[in-house]
Amino acid sequence: PIKRLTPPDIRARKGGEPIVSLTAYDAPMAAVMDPHTDLILVGNSVGMVVHGLPNTISVTLEMMILHGQAVMRGSKQALVVVDMPFGSYEQSKEQAFANCVRVLQETGAGAVKLETSVQMADTVRYLVERAVPVVAHVGLRPQAALADGGFKAKGRDDDSRAKVLAEARAMDEAGAFAMVVEGVAEDVAREVTQMVAVPTIGIGASSACDGQVLVMQDMLGLFDWTPKFVKKYGNLRELAEAAFKDYASEVRSRAFPGPDHVYGAKKR
Ligand code: KIV
Repeated sequence: PIKRLTPPDIRARKGGEPIVSLTAYDAPMAAVMDPHTDLILVGNSVGMVVHGLPNTISVTLEMMILHGQAVMRGSKQALVVVDMPFGSYEQSKEQAFANCVRVLQETGAGAVKLETSVQMADTVRYLVERAVPVVAHVGLRPQAALADGGFKAKGRDDDSRAKVLAEARAMDEAGAFAMVVEGVAEDVAREVTQMVAVPTIGIGASSACDGQVLVMQDMLGLFDWTPKFVKKYGNLRELAEAAFKDYASEVRSRAFPGPDHVYGAKKR
């Protein structure tokens, strides 16, 4: 059997071969990306890119568990990390532990990711001391979209820069085995990566990080709008549109189903 990568395998990649990561939410896409990725993130971006929500605030634990289970079924060798949704871990260390254990037990995933701040360091330490492998998430935190008034890049002035560095230091000390660094200025991403002992996985955080993650639908080109930090490696929207158009026209002209697609009578 193929052995899955583990949190210590990812931790050991600090400063070495870059960690390749993408988000996935379903089994077939997880299967396609699995041989090419080290870490598959079942991101709470699922709320936006699959369920059509305006942000990640309304994503539930049940949604994350269902998508986590699907990704585990589709993948074989990548470490699968499931995002803890807004409201499932901030109330207390005990709440965080109970919900992280539920996610790990019900999905079989190898780790959880929490959007973190300096204030969350005690929670992360509490989880790690109880054998919950944690990926931290510093810089732009999509779950703070309401409080921040939108999705705003971080570390672009002195105050914000000091805040991102403090968050990263706190997460390193609390025992996270890796950290996502999202939407921060390049020099801050470089400083964080040099400062912390664990790998940094960047999104909108430059090539200075120890790895990269992108939202699958963004990099496949499913949407019209492309954020600055995204590179489109495909044009799924055009491919899908062309296929839907052809299908509609063939159904209307009765060209589909053709002789190859119909059942005849069973031979007697
Ligand atoms: O929700 C998500 O997909 C994420 C990644 C963008 C890092 O947190």
